[in-house]
Amino acid sequence: MSIEIVGVYKSFRQNGKKQVVLSGVDLTIPTSSSVTIIGRSGTGKSVLLKLITRLFFPDAGSIRVDGIEVTTASRGSIYELRENIGFLFQGSALFDSMTVRENVGFALCERSKLALKEINDIVIQRLKAVGLKEDVLDKMPSELSGGMKKRVALARVLATDPKYILYDEPTTGLDPITADAINDLIISTREQFGVTSIVVTHDMTSAFKVSDYVAMLYGGRIIEWGTPEEILKTQNPYVRQFVQGSSKGPISMLE
Ligand SMILES: Nc1ncnc2c1ncn2[C@@H]1O[C@H](COP(=O)(O)OP(=O)(O)OP(=O)(O)O)[C@@H](O)[C@H]1O
Ligand SMILES: [Mg+2]
Repeated sequence: MSIEIVGVYKSFRQNGKKQVVLSGVDLTIPTSSSVTIIGRSGTGKSVLLKLITRLFFPDAGSIRVDGIEVTTASRGSIYELRENIGFLFQGSALFDSMTVRENVGFALCERSKLALKEINDIVIQRLKAVGLKEDVLDKMPSELSGGMKKRVALARVLATDPKYILYDEPTTGLDPITADAINDLIISTREQFGVTSIVVTHDMTSAFKVSDYVAMLYGGRIIEWGTPEEILKTQNPYVRQFVQGSSKGPISMLE
């Protein structure tokens, strides 16, 4: 149940110009561990998560999830794999025309043979886990605050008990108390269910709290990998500048 990424390249072509985003990413996410990817805005963190679920194809390289090579797998096995992967999208991506209850229960209604009552119980339980009460059940996404949307999206991810969870900025835009509750939830999900997770975040407190390992993406590659303690003590000036959130250092504002 590990994720192994080797030599992954990805570029985009826009207005005839080629933009190289990833240029040789190597990263292994060990089974049941939680790895945080840090890096500046625009370095390709979200792109990397999308490659893992084959929402994009890489230009080169190998991505193996649960032993399946996702770059060449059949469409059928990708669908099967996706059933085991929960993806918390950066912008929450709730279905706008569905209530909270329908959003969180969607995958269970589509894929499981559970009765509506059982699905409803799971929906309420998952909402509780992310700190939301039953009074949100019949609200539409447009009636929720940004932080509530994010929590509903997380409840939706948790509803199907995935083996892998990809969290894209799970705490961004949340108040510090809710953010910490989400951090605890990421930790308990891994501890209780042995979920293998990748967390993309700018939030250093969150990165150090929830991760077994931290990886920094810079210049299209993973330039540093280590436990949170190792990352805090790193001598790599690029990583130090990022971790300390300083405008002074080798990483320029204009990059
Ligand atoms: N579908 C796409 N088409 C063209 N370019 C894209 C596409 N998706 C991403 N990119 C480009 O790839 C680069 C990396 O984007 P990505 O969203 O992965 O950054 P990020 O590291 O997640 O940043 P942030 O921290 O701001 O979320 C950006 O320059 C972006 O413009
Ligand atoms: Mg992103």
